[in-house]
Amino acid sequence: MIISLANIFLIYFIPATFFPTTVDSVMAIQGEWRLQQASIGITAMHLQLLHNNKIVIYDRTDFGASNISLPGNRCRFDPQEKVLKTDCSAHSVLYDPVTNEFRPLTVRTDIWCSSGAVLADGTLVQTGGYNDGDEVIRIISPGDAGNDFCDWVEFPGFLSKRRWYATNQILPDGRVIIIGGRDQFSYEFFLPESILLGKNSEVPSLFDFPFLKETKYRNHEENNLYPFVHLLPDGNLFIFANRRSIVLDYKNNSVVREFQSINGEPRNYPSSGSSVLLPIDENSPVLETEIMVCGGSTSPNAFHAAQRGMFLRASSTCGRLNVSDNDAEVRWRMHEMPMPRVMGDMLILPTGDILIINGASSGSAGWERARDPVTRPLIYQTQRIPDENDGNRFSVMEASPRPRLYHSTALLLIDGRVLVGGSNPHIGYNFSGVEFPTDLSLETFHPPYLATQYDPLRPRIIQVMNNLSYKKPFSLVFFVTNLLKSSGVISIRIIAPPFNTHGFSMNQRMVVLKRGDVSFVSYNTYNISVVGPSTPEIAPPGHYMMFLVHANIPSSGVWVLIQ
Ligand SMILES: *[C@@H]1O[C@H](CO)[C@@H](O)[C@H](O)[C@H]1NC(C)=O
Ligand SMILES: *[C@@H]1O[C@H](CO)[C@@H](O)[C@H](O)[C@H]1NC(C)=O
Ligand SMILES: *[C@@H]1O[C@H](CO)[C@@H](O)[C@H](O)[C@H]1NC(C)=O
Ligand SMILES: *[C@@H]1O[C@H](CO)[C@@H](O)[C@H](O)[C@H]1NC(C)=O
Ligand SMILES: *[C@@H]1O[C@H](CO)[C@@H](O)[C@H](O)[C@H]1NC(C)=O
Ligand SMILES: *[C@@H]1O[C@H](CO)[C@@H](O)[C@H](O)[C@H]1NC(C)=O
Repeated sequence: MIISLANIFLIYFIPATFFPTTVDSVMAIQGEWRLQQASIGITAMHLQLLHNNKIVIYDRTDFGASNISLPGNRCRFDPQEKVLKTDCSAHSVLYDPVTNEFRPLTVRTDIWCSSGAVLADGTLVQTGGYNDGDEVIRIISPGDAGNDFCDWVEFPGFLSKRRWYATNQILPDGRVIIIGGRDQFSYEFFLPESILLGKNSEVPSLFDFPFLKETKYRNHEENNLYPFVHLLPDGNLFIFANRRSIVLDYKNNSVVREFQSINGEPRNYPSSGSSVLLPIDENSPVLETEIMVCGGSTSPNAFHAAQRGMFLRASSTCGRLNVSDNDAEVRWRMHEMPMPRVMGDMLILPTGDILIINGASSGSAGWERARDPVTRPLIYQTQRIPDENDGNRFSVMEASPRPRLYHSTALLLIDGRVLVGGSNPHIGYNFSGVEFPTDLSLETFHPPYLATQYDPLRPRIIQVMNNLSYKKPFSLVFFVTNLLKSSGVISIRIIAPPFNTHGFSMNQRMVVLKRGDVSFVSYNTYNISVVGPSTPEIAPPGHYMMFLVHANIPSSGVWVLIQ
């Protein structure tokens, strides 16, 4: 029997007053923090969630000895190494958020300030780093059953150029584009087949990209590193550096559009704001694409001012740009955050709202360059409130007891929690005699939607195919105690697991899948028809977390493979 939601509600009506139903009441509580590990032995500078729910974490090899030994009590001898030529400690770990356990991994060359992307088959491809690691590509493959022995495999000399502070994006055809890096005004591609061939098989692999030269500030620190890159639904790339943004047709190495500069300050490293591609909704009659950029330093000079002991107040503005608007004059719509923030991370929550977390309210990224940690996250509501209330879209969350400054990280877990780690504003590990000691811990932030008071509204995915095809309908069976009637109260959303470092989550994207009717199955159990994403440009092939959201309360996610 296929019946509409309205009919279901007539049959299973429960007075709405029993349950919190409005956005305000969802936001009234401010989330919760929990310490998961006081020390994982390294500082969580770079994070990637794999589809077996394990998280690859690493810091850098030229840091001195960490607080965890290499697997098998081995030691690494590296004549190129800057600090310890013989280092028996690990600089990468694999963390399991389900069991809250971790084990060391082995990296041989320096992976500091590098970038990464997960291939369609679930393998993490990490690119570049520093010193002897700057032209290395490294992979770690979770294996189907998430085997316990997986470790890094390194491919020296795979990159055409050194890539330190570059940004990666997975492409619709399965390649990875690697853009920029310190003094690298170019981009290159990585082909998955390269691993088998033992060399980079793309010919030519390297393309000039003068935009990054134009956006580098002379006499200042760059302000264009770790450019913000988002794959647009038309297959082109949105690239933001400093204050400028363009659309790059990477297939033709041509800039097809340039937007107005964002108001105010530069936003990339070391000015270090953050950016997201707002959720792409396949239910809207016209596909809309918007980019959001928040925070950063207020001055291109903040990095140098901090060296002189002047910690300039960070930016408190966000800009939203409607990329779908073809008007040449389209401008960034500016919003004021409740507080300033540099080195924040912007994460898309299962609800489609944006979490802004970590960072400082003065100074810039870089060693010893920031003060006044911002321990309270913000949640920015992407939908539901009319545009004129822009300022009211932010809710201030509970404070973490731990400052998370330079080299801190965050990512969304499959159960809706947010993992937070890192913070090391020093040139090495430094645990004493400093205002902000190196932090080796992992915490979780539990957004308000996880509060038990919402359990009556919380859906549970009971059955769904774990492999989806483009445009192909599928059905999803879910359980919920109290199904609400209003239209749009249910959505099915997929999120790509990003590579997070330096305040930016590479490859992060949410697609709200096209949904059809809900039918009643049995007591509190329903069946909803959904359609796979329309194109690989909207959702490149690979593993995604899928959430069902009911009345702004998400289910726990399930992993699906889109191919
Ligand atoms: C290093 O690890 C040990 C346990 O192996 C722990 O007791 C200690 O607190 C750790 N040090 C830091 C700074 O986290
Ligand atoms: C490629 O870019 C050039 C300009 O750089 C342009 O003239 C040409 O039409 C473009 N080709 C395609 C297929 O977009
Ligand atoms: C973005 O631009 C498109 C095309 O002009 C328009 O239909 C849409 O309403 C705009 N969205 C917002 C949020 O301004
Ligand atoms: C930590 O930083 C302080 C202050 O800069 C310095 O005096 C100390 O030597 C550092 N410790 C280590 C282990 O580097
Ligand atoms: C994925 O689904 C298709 C049907 O849509 C099926 O033919 C294929 O075997 C499935 N693959 C896996 C790995 O489950
Ligand atoms: C859900 O609906 C689909 C068709 O839309 C059907 O094939 C499937 O059997 C249904 N599942 C359940 C558990 O009712």
